[in-house]
Amino acid sequence: MDKFVIRGGNPLVGTIRVSGAKNSALPCMAAAILTEDEVTLENIPQVRDIETERRLLASMGAEVELREGELRDRTTICCRTLSDPVARYEIVKTMRASSLVLGPLIARAGVARVAMPGGCAIGGRPIDLHIKGLEKMGAVITQEHGYLEARAEHLRGAHLVFDKITVTGTEDLLMAAVLAEGDTLMENCAREPEVADLAALLNAMGAEIEGAGTATIRVHGVASLHGARYRINPDRIEAGTFLIAGAITAGDLIVANCNATHLGAVIAKLQEAGARIDVLGPDSIRVRATAELHAADISTEEYPGFPTDMQAQYMALATQAKGVSLVRENIFENRFMHVQELVRMGANIKVDGSIATVRGPARLTSAAVMCSDLRASASLVLAALVAEGETIVDRVYHMDRGYERFEEKLIGVGAQIQRLGNVFAPREPVAVAG
Ligand code: UD1
Repeated sequence: MDKFVIRGGNPLVGTIRVSGAKNSALPCMAAAILTEDEVTLENIPQVRDIETERRLLASMGAEVELREGELRDRTTICCRTLSDPVARYEIVKTMRASSLVLGPLIARAGVARVAMPGGCAIGGRPIDLHIKGLEKMGAVITQEHGYLEARAEHLRGAHLVFDKITVTGTEDLLMAAVLAEGDTLMENCAREPEVADLAALLNAMGAEIEGAGTATIRVHGVASLHGARYRINPDRIEAGTFLIAGAITAGDLIVANCNATHLGAVIAKLQEAGARIDVLGPDSIRVRATAELHAADISTEEYPGFPTDMQAQYMALATQAKGVSLVRENIFENRFMHVQELVRMGANIKVDGSIATVRGPARLTSAAVMCSDLRASASLVLAALVAEGETIVDRVYHMDRGYERFEEKLIGVGAQIQRLGNVFAPREPVAVAG
């Protein structure tokens, strides 16, 4: 298994570029199921979850092309033939977002067999809300042998009110609704930019969707969709991670190719903690830490609140801030697995239920630490960048699921990181979050 050897202490200086959003690319790739035509997606990040989704679509009979060289961030998917509308456990277990194919498969093929997502590192993560919505649209769903089987001759438009805000749930049902007969009104929807990204692609494919990116989405079902070409938005979580990298190392970093409007809560919190942040333009942000960082509390919320996917990284920063920071995790239970590793590096953190109390600044020293999930791994790398000595961060395959060339990008702005092991060697990670 690959590991990083990181020598801390260097301020990060220079320009670092953000890749396309993994969490937009995943539903957009699933959306290709909805048409017989080609869908071409640009700004696709080269990360393992994308590889997994390509394998998933290909295993159903889709033609999936990924360009090489200069054009390797572009992929064309053609689902003319869906010979086998089954999402097999062997593929689904490595990526929970595989449940995103459920809605589009029923809408397109009238039948879907999707393995239930496997054990998960950050809490139960059920998909009951996906199922409830599809049933309301007329699907009959049964569960047997670890698989969900869904059937519907015709999905009907419906009035759907989410009991709880769910990002992939909103996306899954949106993809079902675009080909349903009649109108669908979706309320209490996730407002994440990734939902809006997906809706923009679907509209480019001929769907009639209004309100994506707000809590209420209206869909007028159409008979069929056609192909489209679409450019995925930048990854706001990767951008936020780099902002913290700049602040925690007291560097001077320009985070380029990002979308500043998607980062409001993160920018505001870093400013509150004493980092100097200048939005240089719509796609470029400069971060500096010229003075001592001080404690600031966070509470994770659905967008536009502080993202749960930035909680672990923020906690690494909080270890270096003067005072007591309270970190409240409201979205997922059990999303504090990075804490024990940070503590092994010298952090002073106490967890009580969904609240972590971080006392800083703590002197971090190198240790051998282990990644438990995607964002936890980013948190450990950030801590290692300021730790004394050489930190070994093990199991970086978690990181490879969602960050494109993470260490290369950081090395480019002055970090000392070495990867040991084989990049993308076959391995069997469990289903994890992020
Ligand atoms: C997505 C993101 C993930 C992010 C999360 C929250 C993708 C591929 N992943 O995950 O990076 O951390 O949003 O911003 O986009 N829930 C239910 N029943 C359901 C669905 C969800 O109870 O049917 C609960 C979950 O257990 C969780 C909460 O709702 O407590 C939010 O989960 P959800 O928004 O669905 O997360 P994902 O879409 O899986």
